[in-house]
Amino acid sequence: MPLTAFRDRVDIDLGDRSYPILIGTDLLGDFDAFAATPAAATALIVTNTTVAPLYLAALRNTLTARFRAVHVLELPDGEVYKDWATLNLIFDALLRHGADRKTVLFALGGGVVGDMTGFAAASYMRGVPFVQVPTTLLAQVDSSVGGKTAINHPLGKNMIGAFYQPQLVLCDLATLQTLPPRELSAGLAEVIKYGPISDMAFFDWIEANVDALVALDPAALAHAVKRSCEIKAGVVGQDERENGLRAILNFGHTFGHAIESGLGYGEWLHGEAVGCGMVMAAHLSQRLGGVDAAFVERLTRLIERAGLPIVGPALGDARYLELMRIDKKSEAGEIRFVVIDKPGSAVVRSAPDAMVREVLVQCCTA
Ligand code: NAD
Ligand code: GLY
Repeated sequence: MPLTAFRDRVDIDLGDRSYPILIGTDLLGDFDAFAATPAAATALIVTNTTVAPLYLAALRNTLTARFRAVHVLELPDGEVYKDWATLNLIFDALLRHGADRKTVLFALGGGVVGDMTGFAAASYMRGVPFVQVPTTLLAQVDSSVGGKTAINHPLGKNMIGAFYQPQLVLCDLATLQTLPPRELSAGLAEVIKYGPISDMAFFDWIEANVDALVALDPAALAHAVKRSCEIKAGVVGQDERENGLRAILNFGHTFGHAIESGLGYGEWLHGEAVGCGMVMAAHLSQRLGGVDAAFVERLTRLIERAGLPIVGPALGDARYLELMRIDKKSEAGEIRFVVIDKPGSAVVRSAPDAMVREVLVQCCTA
């Protein structure tokens, strides 16, 4: 179904750090959409070599009407560049352009650009304002919202970072139309996640609409982005710094992060690793008594229909366990997993290593 002049809004309610998420079509060229951007003389757009040829001109034109100087930094593209050396390129650009404390950073791209630009904004001069302009489904439904910023370390995913909220998130749905199918599927993993942890009615809706989502149907994508942002806003509004509840947003991520760092960043996409990690976490949930085999099968089929892998790589159970111990949820070396305690509800729990090994044997190639 086509979607014309669609505009919606979800609010993140965090007191003096509150901000709107605007969701709509062709927002990049819409001056009014940027009304919540802080006033300043200078802006720096951080993007990458893939996104720049597609969307930089539209954003730069719009910002030129608002800022005296609009600078641009194009980073190399890829999860493998989510590191110290590439982060430093943002600081180099800020210093080279004489950026002051009011300079606004704009993250134009997927979760990699968003996480790195957010971390740079959190630390340049101890904090400058930034705006998220996510252009992947994954970034629109998850990474641009909620203020988690980070880079990877060779020993662990997203281990170096800060909680730092943007001033505005601007999801231009039109940008999703150029996403390669594999990237679209990766984003669907994070959309699917919201069902088992929080909203089984949404899960039903995704099951009924997954083919439309895979086919980039604009109306289906608009609903998926809005409902995902609403659920995430509700969780982040209660637990901004992940003292408890927010950890449920990491369903599938403990296994997934092990796949990503175990294979080498970029080998599997983040969303692919999360999709497969949710299959593993569902099996663990079943063994812990939270869900039955029918639920695990239902979730696995949906992940498969979304175009995501459902069988994990053969890293070996000892290596998986070693990698999963380097996780922000671990406590005193004990791995803690997000598991489903009943459909639509998740908790964080430890599990015996022997049980985790059984899940890995069941879910990974030999
Ligand atoms: P990504 O940023 O690597 O983008 C995926 C690919 O799509 C890249 O090649 C990118 O250049 C390209 N691309 C971006 N927009 C495009 C468009 N509109 N058309 C065509 N190509 C486009 O990956 P991602 O999946 O967006 O994000 C994954 C990252 O997000 C991971 O590093 C993950 O750790 C992080 N993440 C963070 C959070 C958080 O809360 N901060 C949550 C989830 C994931
Ligand atoms: N993507 C997990 C979180 O934002 O907490």
